[in-house]
Order: sequence, then C-alpha cells, then structure tokens
Amino acid sequence: MSDAATTAVILAAGKGTRMRSKLPKVLHRIANAPMLAHVFGAAEAAGIKEKALVVGPGMEQVAEESNALAGRLSVFVQQEQRGTADAVLAAKDALAQADGPVLVLYGDTPLLEAETLAAVQDGVRGGADLVVVGFEAPDPSGYGRLLVDDTGNLTGIREEKDATEAEKAITLCNSGILGFASGKLLLGLLDRIGNDNAKGEYYLTDAIALAHADGLSLQIVTADHESLLGVNSRAELATAERVMQQRLRVKAMAEGVTMTAPETVFLSADTEIASDVVIEPNVFFGPGVRVEEGAHIKSFCHFEQATIGKGATIGPFARLRPGAELAEGAHIGNFVEIKKATVGPGAKVNHLTYIGDAGIGAGANIGAGTITCNYDGFDKHRTEIGEGAFIGSNSSLVAPVKIGDGAYIGSGSIIVHDVTPGALALSRPPQEEKADWATRYKARRMKAKQGG
Ligand code: UD1
Ligand code: MG
Repeated sequence: MSDAATTAVILAAGKGTRMRSKLPKVLHRIANAPMLAHVFGAAEAAGIKEKALVVGPGMEQVAEESNALAGRLSVFVQQEQRGTADAVLAAKDALAQADGPVLVLYGDTPLLEAETLAAVQDGVRGGADLVVVGFEAPDPSGYGRLLVDDTGNLTGIREEKDATEAEKAITLCNSGILGFASGKLLLGLLDRIGNDNAKGEYYLTDAIALAHADGLSLQIVTADHESLLGVNSRAELATAERVMQQRLRVKAMAEGVTMTAPETVFLSADTEIASDVVIEPNVFFGPGVRVEEGAHIKSFCHFEQATIGKGATIGPFARLRPGAELAEGAHIGNFVEIKKATVGPGAKVNHLTYIGDAGIGAGANIGAGTITCNYDGFDKHRTEIGEGAFIGSNSSLVAPVKIGDGAYIGSGSIIVHDVTPGALALSRPPQEEKADWATRYKARRMKAKQGG
C-alpha cells in the first residue's frame, strides 16, 4: 500500500462518430457544462489532483476548455485513434512517474460519482492490483461484458463486437473506469495488448485477461447503472441530461427550495438557489445564475448569468440575460427583459419592458412598455434611473441618459436629455380637442350612406 498521489488519466481523443457532430464529443453539454467538466468534477471531489487528459490531434478546443476546468492537468495528444489502450499509452510520460494508483476514466461518462472513484482508490490502496467498475445494465448493448468464472473471479472483458451470443447475454457491464495499483503495472500490461479483434483496435479492456493470466489480484466495484451511462449518441446525451436534471432538482429541494412541478424546471450544474425560494412550473436556469433566499420565481421564466436578490419576485414570462442583477425585494413582472442592468432594492418593472445597460435606483417604478434605447447601431450606452424615480408608461429612454432621483417622466415620452432630480419631463405632443367633432363626423357619414 502506498500513500503516493492518485493520478487520473481521462480519455477524450475518440472521434465520437456516433454523435454526428463537428464538436468533440466530450464538449457536448449536460446541465450546461461540458461532459468533461463533470468527469473532472467527480475526480476533484474524490480528492484526485493529478490529471492527465488524452485528446486527439486538432482538439485544441478540448485542451483549452479543459485547462480552464481542471487545476493540475497535463494534456497529451493521441495522434491516431487506435483504441483505448493506445490512448492511455499517449500519456506514458505521466504514467511512468505515477508511483501511486492510476485511475482510467472516460470523458464520455459524465454521471460518474465521486464515491465510485473513492471505492476504486480504496480497492487498489487496499491491495488489489486492478479494479474494474462494473454495473448491471438493463440494456447491455454497446458495452463490454465482464467475464467471471465459476468462483466469481473476474477473468476478462469482452467487447460487444467480439462477443459470442452467450457472452452477449451477460448483463454485468464494463463502465470503462479502471483502477491500477501503479503506473508501472499499467504500462507493463499495455505493452502486451494487441489489436486482433473485430474493430482492429487496441482495447484497454484486454488488460483484464492479461492481468488475470499473470495471477494479479482483480476486483470488481459495482455502482448504479445510471451513474455509469456512457454517452455515444445524441439519444444517450438526452438520457444523461434527464438523469443529471433529476439529481440537481433533488439536491435543490433537499437544500430547501420549493418546486411545484420539479420535472419542468431545468437547472445548470452551477445554479445556486438559497433556501425558501419558490419555483413555479416551467423555469429555465442557464449558466451562472444565483437566487437568494425567499425569492419567488413564477412560471415560464428564462435566466442566464443573473442574480435574483433576497425576496425578489419575478415572472411569469420574464427573461434575465447576462449581467442582470436584481436587488432585495425587486419586482419583475410579465414580458420583461433585463440585460446587463441592476435593479435596486424594491424597484418595480412590472410589464412589457426592455431594460439593457442600465442602473435602476431603489424603489423606482418603471411603467409598462418602457424601453431603454441602449444601442445606436455601433455602441451600447447606459441609462441611469435614480432612486424613487417614476417612469410613465410607454416611454423611450434614449441612452446615454440620466433620470435624477425622484423625477417623473410623463407617459409616452421620448427622453434624450438628462432629467434633474425631482423634475417632471415630458416630450409628447400637447393634446388637442375638437368639440363635437366625432358626433358631426358620424352624422355626415351615415347621411352619405343612406342617400347613396
Ligand atoms: C468503451 C469500452 C467498453 C465499455 C464502454 C463504457 C473499450 C475497448 N471499450 O466502449 O468496454 O463498456 O466504453 O462506456 O475500452 N478514446 C480515445 N482514443 C481512442 C478511442 C477512444 O481517447 O482511440 C476515448 C473516447 O474519447 C472515449 C473513451 O475513450 O472517451 C471510450 O471510447 P468509446 O469509443 O466511447 O468506447 P465505447 O465503445 O463506448
Ligand atoms: Mg463510449
């Protein structure tokens, strides 16, 4: 048993052909984070700091995104996609230095849980030479099957394409997660893996039969099949999304969030929701959203990179775009869009409004149909609305412009100049009245109709 650090080798070089996508498979998103981020997250949570990522040539995007996602990471390139054993070999330099256990993870198993990785580490640190994470699959098709002898010992893994009918009937499958006692032991096995199989690939899974033949001690760790789902197609991506969403909702509810119809609420992996928040049906949380205590989110809202303050109410049918920040007790009503703007404590924006590149002071009231005209075709400009200001309905505030504290804007105004605090600004044409005009008009038209 060694106390040397564990290294995780994460394979992500596969072309992901079955996804039919230009985007590398491991960058496809689940709960708005790349699959790879979920794998790194599980490794981090299991205390695995050393990570080696294997990507294919031209997958700079994967390498770049991964560097941002994982602290200590070395990136290796597998020149040709010749199979999972060959992919691990690409990280040879990292393995040669790994005195502690090495875990091999696949970038396409995003539902993986930290406890499973902890169990694998315990296995190899507790004396097993090789640990395989297996699961009972309701539908085993596509997975490698674990071959076990009469005494229950693991003897090998058979890939589906090479399996006999009897082997295909086995439902105990390979998740792809393997643990090896050391990098040296793994390299020794990899050296002997050939490609004499249906796909002509170097299968990492052949390491198991070799280890068994060498008389090494093998162990199977099992976990729930949902957490080990391998994503190879868009349909599997959708299944993984469903499982992840369910997990995120259960977690939010356990933390004190009320969801009237949880199955209709979509969360992101980084969504933060405090206790006593109420979420009505059909709400979408994009990345970067934080909701503070006691806020009430009504149906059909859409949020991205936004903050909803303590006790604020929002919706139904409201949209918060990046940079929207609602302070405590703010009210946002139906058909309101807010972008890159702060809404002060207790301020109200209740109906049919666009607020972009703006600051709204505490207690201000923004009437129905108010528009901040923030874009001139080239640049964006700011609108500042002072504390307690009152913007009459259907006003256009042409930025850059400042409305002073407590000022009033008459309904239907187009405001192009700054308004001093406490003033009333109006820019609509004066009202004219023609006495009896309508009565006379109608009488004239009726007469013409009857006469003709
Ligand atoms: C693999 C396993 C199978 C297991 C299943 C679990 C092998 C031979 N088979 O099959 O036993 O049940 O995962 O989901 O390992 N990759 C590379 N380079 C390559 C080929 C693959 O980096 O040359 C990477 C892929 O990006 C992917 C991972 O390895 O992240 C697994 O490859 P994939 O093609 O998805 O293997 P499966 O057919 O799913
Ligand atoms: Mg796969």
